[in-house]
Amino acid sequence: MVFENIITEVKGKVGIITLNRPKALNALNSALIAELNTALDAYEADSDISAIILTGNEKAFAAGADIREMKDKTFDEVTSQNFLHDWNHIDNITKPIIAAVSGFALGGGFEFALICDIIIASETAKFSLPETTIGIIPGLGGTQRLVQAIGKSKTMEMILTGRMIDAAEAERTGIVARVVSVEKLQDEALAIATKIASLSKPVIKAAKQAVLSAYEMPMAQGSARERTLFYSMFNLHDQKEGMAAFLEKRPPKFEDR
Ligand code: CAA
Repeated sequence: MVFENIITEVKGKVGIITLNRPKALNALNSALIAELNTALDAYEADSDISAIILTGNEKAFAAGADIREMKDKTFDEVTSQNFLHDWNHIDNITKPIIAAVSGFALGGGFEFALICDIIIASETAKFSLPETTIGIIPGLGGTQRLVQAIGKSKTMEMILTGRMIDAAEAERTGIVARVVSVEKLQDEALAIATKIASLSKPVIKAAKQAVLSAYEMPMAQGSARERTLFYSMFNLHDQKEGMAAFLEKRPPKFEDR
């Protein structure tokens, strides 16, 4: 597929999407979002793809929603067109998504990274939700997901002041899973995605669904959903194979069923 605002590439069972508006620090506009959604849907539908990496360039993962595109929008336009409706489409993807972040991940860019399942950052990564400094508030779930990630007080401080944090602080506070050098970022993300892709697809799908339940429902309901998913694993060939392989001291041969 040929896109103007993103680049797609497949490595093994991993689909990579690189945001590609370098002149605007990968600011997210409607055209980019439409392409991103098309690429995500294609990877979701492709049975040869087991995990997805979302990344940017060395200077920016994404510096937020495109301020030029938003500046003159009216209240009637944003509400009647439900402006951000398509921006959350990434929520529908059941395959694991790893955000590989170098440079700026700001506003909607940071929020996109937070929607991804795992964030790997380079030492140069910088995160902030600076929306209040340009007269709006976060609109892609940042007020909700950041509270879950780092708690209310730190979230309030970041959102009410727009303060930018570096990779070390992001790792310390649990926003990112790991920080690596800029040179190693893409390899590290690919290594994690490839490891995930070597496991059973239905098992990984259930694991992602179970973890996301912690966001979507109260503990009792989430635990019940986890239990249902856990039991459903016993319908899988890959459960029998995984356990047999362990006991026979050999690597498992998963068949995604
Ligand atoms: N939208 C549109 N253009 C952007 C942009 C954005 N979010 N971020 C950067 N750019 C553009 C700049 O306008 C500039 O373009 P020109 O060369 O044509 O002037 C180009 O990218 C390079 O940016 P700077 O010259 O500003 O680069 P810098 O290194 O001096 O600063 C920065 C980098 C600190 C990231 C700064 O660009 C910045 O603060 N960007 C805006 C960040 C922001 O406020 N993001 C939140 C957007 S709102 C949002 O995301 C809403 C939501 O929740 C959905």
